Amino acid sequence: RFAYVNGRFVRHGDAVVHIEDRGYQLADGVYEVWAIFDGKLADAEGHFARLWRSLDSLRIAHPMGQAALTCVLREAIRRNMVRDGLVYLQVTRGVARRDHAFPNPAVPPSVVVTAKSTDRALAERKAEQGGAVVSVPENRWGRCDIKSIGLLPNALAKQAARERGAIEAWFVDDLGLVTEGASSNAWIIDAEGHLRTRDTNANILRGVTRSTLFEVIRDAGLPINEKPFTIAEAQSAREAFITGAGTLVLPIVSIDGTKVGDGSPGPVATRLRRLYIERAR
Ligand code: PDD
Repeated sequence: RFAYVNGRFVRHGDAVVHIEDRGYQLADGVYEVWAIFDGKLADAEGHFARLWRSLDSLRIAHPMGQAALTCVLREAIRRNMVRDGLVYLQVTRGVARRDHAFPNPAVPPSVVVTAKSTDRALAERKAEQGGAVVSVPENRWGRCDIKSIGLLPNALAKQAARERGAIEAWFVDDLGLVTEGASSNAWIIDAEGHLRTRDTNANILRGVTRSTLFEVIRDAGLPINEKPFTIAEAQSAREAFITGAGTLVLPIVSIDGTKVGDGSPGPVATRLRRLYIERAR
């Protein structure tokens, strides 16, 4: 395997950044994850747009333009011989002697890209089974719209999920409303048959898969409603699912140990997964 580190491809095992990288010391950086279908980036534009927005929000310089970065991502995919999988990009503010405030003068941002294959057949089998989620209290900062590498609450939430046999944790805010998952957006299909997911004025990441799925849903003529929901509403919903570059559209069959519907993946979520993949490829 090969990774891109600050201008060159090196063997994955030899890919290192400096101990004074601000990503390492302060989580001062952002990332993006693209799904890859047939060697091509899925939802390429949406992820680039969010990357530039994340960088601008933190006043980290763009390490290169979109055309150059696209070349790097494609080269990472090629060198790792990925047909179906994920490409990961991380940009940090760079390497500087430790100080909470930004380095002055500025230093070049650090850029890392990796690409890995996923077993689509296995992923499809998992989607046919669906997954469980558990709820955790929302305890993240107020800028979850930035795709920051500061993921400690997300990591702890995901670990809590894993220890309880679940694939995802849903954060629940002070009003008892689900915000999103530790690494995905949260959806239900309510008793009236409306698709529901948290609106992007809330403190959530604006999922690119979520946005594309809005188009898929509109084209399919299904009703959508960005109205927040509680865990109790999700447990008594017709269906539930999550979206993200890592999971695509994945049916949720249990929430905090309570079955959703009959406890098997719902027909609409299953259909939306197929339609999303058809559109993304
Ligand atoms: N996670 N919400 C959070 C907190 C996320 O971390 C992600 C993505 C999403 C879904 O966004 P998108 O559809 O653009 O992938 C929502 C990536 C996959 C990750 O952390 O690996």
